[in-house]
Amino acid sequence: MYNSKLASAFALLAFTTAQHVTVPTTCTGNFTGGTDEVLYTVPYTYDQVMSIIGSYKNLTWSGNPDDTVKLNGTDNTVGTARTYDTAGAHVIETILTYSKPPSPGPYDEVHNTAVLSVGALSFYIPYDGTTVTSYCDGKAAQFNFTAQYCANNATAAGAILHMLHLADAVTVGTFLGGQNFTSCAALGASGASAPPTAPSTTAGSTATSGAPAASSSVVPATGAAATMYTAGIGAGALALGAALLAV
Ligand SMILES: *[C@@H]1O[C@H](CO)[C@@H](O)[C@H](O)[C@H]1NC(C)=O
Ligand SMILES: *[C@@H]1O[C@H](CO)[C@@H](O)[C@H](O)[C@H]1NC(C)=O
Ligand SMILES: *[C@@H]1O[C@H](CO)[C@@H](O)[C@H](O)[C@H]1NC(C)=O
Ligand SMILES: *[C@@H]1O[C@H](CO)[C@@H](O)[C@H](O)[C@H]1NC(C)=O
Ligand SMILES: *[C@@H]1O[C@H](CO)[C@@H](O)[C@H](O)[C@H]1NC(C)=O
Ligand SMILES: *[C@@H]1O[C@H](CO)[C@@H](O)[C@H](O)[C@H]1NC(C)=O
Repeated sequence: MYNSKLASAFALLAFTTAQHVTVPTTCTGNFTGGTDEVLYTVPYTYDQVMSIIGSYKNLTWSGNPDDTVKLNGTDNTVGTARTYDTAGAHVIETILTYSKPPSPGPYDEVHNTAVLSVGALSFYIPYDGTTVTSYCDGKAAQFNFTAQYCANNATAAGAILHMLHLADAVTVGTFLGGQNFTSCAALGASGASAPPTAPSTTAGSTATSGAPAASSSVVPATGAAATMYTAGIGAGALALGAALLAV
């Protein structure tokens, strides 16, 4: 009787703890901030992209099989957290903004990520945003992954987040048929409605101290520079990234 009560008390405590994760909105302690942006266009419609990424619980496109992601509330709702394990890290991400209007969108999902560690690298993400916008008269869609993070090594965290987000975007294109975006004209659409293109091919991120900062890195919107990342899709990318960076 006593033992079972104690066991329930501990179970409740564990449950309660998982339900009350606080993610600071600024970089605390020895953590410094950085911002990483990935822009990536796929030659598929907004609705097609939503069919892959439109459920917060379904992270198949990020390398997490069905039933490995748990929610503590209603899908696609502010305040709901998802938890999953990847590359030895326990990930807890709580929705801060969620908007998925019908085509042409835009889709806008922002969550935070509680502190997690991969080897010697620790980081948390006060702002991890994904937008999907229609371009080329609806025949293409562009991802914008923007993460404002805090890390004990901002350079390493930025590189890993960049790799993960790029791999995610490439995977969505692969799921939808594997065609690469080249131009609106190639899709029979007006060039005037083309997505913004990235000004440089520099990957990585700049670290600044204090609050998550406004520095960014961008990659070409086409699939050309993305190949090198595809080997490490999703969960694999985190482990691969950590290994490559030897953090
Ligand atoms: C789910 O977890 C998040 C993060 O800990 C918390 O903010 C939220 O209140 C929880 N929701 C419920 C319904 O317990
Ligand atoms: C911050 O880093 C310094 C120097 O490496 C270390 O002495 C200190 O304990 C660290 N503080 C925290 C809160 O980790
Ligand atoms: C999750 O999404 C994938 C497509 O990305 C789909 O094949 C799978 O059936 C979805 N899982 C559930 C449980 O809906
Ligand atoms: C990408 O999204 C961020 C906000 O999450 C925004 O600040 C930035 O301007 C966007 N980039 C482009 C090219 O629209
Ligand atoms: C898309 O681009 C990738 C990377 O450049 C390339 O490996 C792949 O063959 C391309 N796919 C198609 C269908 O052209
Ligand atoms: C931070 O990570 C980068 C990239 O992995 C590495 O070159 C650098 O030595 C690390 N810095 C520290 C202080 O560990």
